[in-house]
Amino acid sequence: MRSARLPLPALAPLAALTLAGLAGCAQPSTPPVTPPPAELVQAQQTAQSRLAGYQKAEGKVTIPIERSMALIAEQGIEYGDTLTSPKEAKAAPSAAAAAPAGDAPGPFAVDAAKAEQGKALFTSKTCSACHSVDGSKLVGPSLKGFWGRAVVLADGKSLWADAAYFTESVKAPTAKISGGYPPAMPPLPVSDAEIDLLLHYVASLK
Ligand code: HEC
Repeated sequence: MRSARLPLPALAPLAALTLAGLAGCAQPSTPPVTPPPAELVQAQQTAQSRLAGYQKAEGKVTIPIERSMALIAEQGIEYGDTLTSPKEAKAAPSAAAAAPAGDAPGPFAVDAAKAEQGKALFTSKTCSACHSVDGSKLVGPSLKGFWGRAVVLADGKSLWADAAYFTESVKAPTAKISGGYPPAMPPLPVSDAEIDLLLHYVASLK
């Protein structure tokens, strides 16, 4: 058997070269900067990209409301056993959309003559451009069956459709937004007396 190993002296220059190279790199004044391990760099990048769109201040990470709404739209919210699918979560943005507090208003005593005038105003004041009276959805909710119905607002709260809500809806259209509708109702020049006539008409739409 012949030995295939190199004689030791042949390796010596190589070893010397390597040591010299290392010595050349070493700078005794500043400690060598070790690059962070690749896993760490990647973990940091992942965290950065996940936090894109978040704001960091005073040690807290906050998320802009638009971003959180987008996340809810994408992923839904877990409400527990009853509401879990993203679709349902979208339809009911808040778990607080329970029945309105208090009792539904009693029946509205419609004055036929007032309802007649209200009907004319409903067209002349342009309500009819955005509200149907037959249950179909236009820009705004149909006002058929308005009186005494439970309205779920865009913020998840709910209330009974009564005279106060009707009046507010006309005078300050964006004070409360009906759920599922854009805040597209303009303030219209309608007097209190006209609002009363309109209400008699709307309340007659059963
Ligand atoms: C340009 C379209 C537009 C016009 C004109 C308009 N509305 Fe509206 N209205 C809306 C929209 C959209 C909503 C739902 C969003 C909201 O609550 O502001 C709404 C909501 C309402 C509500 C609340 C309904 C509910 O079920 O929650 C009432 C009541 C109402 N309007 C009455 C009227 C009356 C009365 C007039 C005419 C004097 C009128 N609107 C004119 C678009 C309109």
